Amino acid sequence: MSYSNLLYKTNDGLATITINRPKKLNALNQETIAELHKAFKKADDDDAVKVIIVTGSGEKAFVAGADISEFADYSVSQGQELSAKGHATLFDFVEHLSTPVIAAVNGFALGGGLELAMAAHFRTASDTAKMGLPEVSLGVIPGYGGTQRLPELVGKGRAMEMIMTAGMIDATQALQYGLVNHVTELGELMEFTEKIARKIMKNSSVAIASAINAINAGFEEGENGYETEITEFGKCFGTADFKEGTSAFLEKRKANFPGQ
Ligand code: COA
Repeated sequence: MSYSNLLYKTNDGLATITINRPKKLNALNQETIAELHKAFKKADDDDAVKVIIVTGSGEKAFVAGADISEFADYSVSQGQELSAKGHATLFDFVEHLSTPVIAAVNGFALGGGLELAMAAHFRTASDTAKMGLPEVSLGVIPGYGGTQRLPELVGKGRAMEMIMTAGMIDATQALQYGLVNHVTELGELMEFTEKIARKIMKNSSVAIASAINAINAGFEEGENGYETEITEFGKCFGTADFKEGTSAFLEKRKANFPGQ
């Protein structure tokens, strides 16, 4: 599969998806969103891929937002369609993947860029990163999940302030807010993030998929996270990974999970 706006590579269980429109600060046009869907699906469908990292190309931006030039003359119904399609194709899609997704935020993550990073399961950032949801400065609101995921991650008051001011926070503040889990120098970001990915890969991918499902359920309307936890917990007992994990512990050896 070839992409116009992405780089896709896999290496020993790790898929790296790099959004590659550096001249436009990796802004998400419709073509890029469609390609991201394909790339995330491909990685998630590939049993050999245990973790996905998404990042931006160049040294300046992760993603500087949705591509403003594409929607500047949209009508009300086109605006709604753009948002709904984005949720389904990319943002909700990524959040619900069973393969862990880490966003390595290597610069500006604005608007749709921060929304993509927030749809990932967690985030690392370079000390050069700047994050914000500046949509109200354009006369619009975040439409790819930002009004929901930002308050989940940083709390309602901070989200209100960030969205109302349309301002940017730096990596230190993002760390303090809990928006990103770790901050490193730009040159070390990928290596650092890959180290976390390798740690994740040692564990049962089936159990991790169950954990993602249970954690997500707690944030979803009409779902009871505790009920989902009970179901997923029970499901684990029927997996080969559980047999291997518990046997390895009792036999005092490292587990070699089949991923089933
Ligand atoms: N959509 C479309 N194009 C974008 C873009 C976006 N969200 N963000 C940046 N670009 C383009 C610029 O138009 C420019 O293209 P050009 O060289 O053809 O004119 C190129 O990327 C470089 O951006 P530029 O603004 O010149 O860089 P800068 O260093 O001066 O400023 C930012 C960087 C991130 C502060 C600035 O680009 C910006 O404010 N971008 C929009 C952020 C935004 O509002 N995002 C939310 C969208 S809903």
